[in-house]
Amino acid sequence: MSDAPRYIILLGAPGAGKGTQAEILREHFGLVHVSSGDLFRENRAKQTPLGKLAEKYMEKGELVPDDVTIQMVMERIARPDCVNGVVFDGFPRTEAQAQALDAAFAREGKKIGATLLVNVRDELLIQRLSARWFCPADGSVYNLLSNPPKQTGKCDKDGTALEQRNDDKPETVTRRLQVYHSQTAPLIEYYRQAGLLREADGEQNIEQVQAAIVKIVEML
Ligand code: AP5
Ligand code: MG
Repeated sequence: MSDAPRYIILLGAPGAGKGTQAEILREHFGLVHVSSGDLFRENRAKQTPLGKLAEKYMEKGELVPDDVTIQMVMERIARPDCVNGVVFDGFPRTEAQAQALDAAFAREGKKIGATLLVNVRDELLIQRLSARWFCPADGSVYNLLSNPPKQTGKCDKDGTALEQRNDDKPETVTRRLQVYHSQTAPLIEYYRQAGLLREADGEQNIEQVQAAIVKIVEML
């Protein structure tokens, strides 16, 4: 196990468990969790110009254009807290985004440690997303089927009423899955060619996926 900062990418379809596992890796390895989806949602909540633009794409399940996405993530990883390592969640999502990250890392002498592909079949993804609820106050994510809150409809940590994401309605989920297969899945081959791809069975329970992923990251 080396002491060099770890830069890990989590790749997988909507609902594969990227956000869940990224939080675990953040805690376990002291990484910064950089989620492009969360950054867009923060901008949307504040109604910044970027948030208003992103909203139009997110509500339809389409990708936000590469130029603004790349700029937003590059600004985030340039902040000083990222020098000790990052777990990327939901970025890169297109070949242009992957190339932009490679170019930035080449300039800065940084290296991607691994791209972890979390594999889950579409039928299960649809089930998981329709049962997902989150806490608007602290961002905790629950699942009515696999990871329910102790008290129905309330966050375990602060009791806030849980909500569902706008883009988790069935028609948007279907589009998000199509977009994943056509625009993001080609990155599997991109990272395989680069010798960085590692795969985990995302259909196991959260703890089992965690164990598999932590083992891979510990070996880097
Ligand atoms: P984003 O927020 O990234 O959403 P996503 O990729 O669609 O993924 P999700 O957050 O829905 O799923 P997840 O894999 O994080 O799963 P989770 O851990 O929550 O993006 C949203 C939108 O923003 C995009 O559609 C796009 O418009 C835009 N966007 C974002 N990034 C972009 C980019 N780079 N370029 C362009 N546009 C971009 O788990 C799901 C549920 O399952 C939870 O309820 C959880 O509790 C449960 N669960 C997790 N693991 C397990 C398990 N092992 N077993 C059982 N249940 C589990
Ligand atoms: Mg997520």
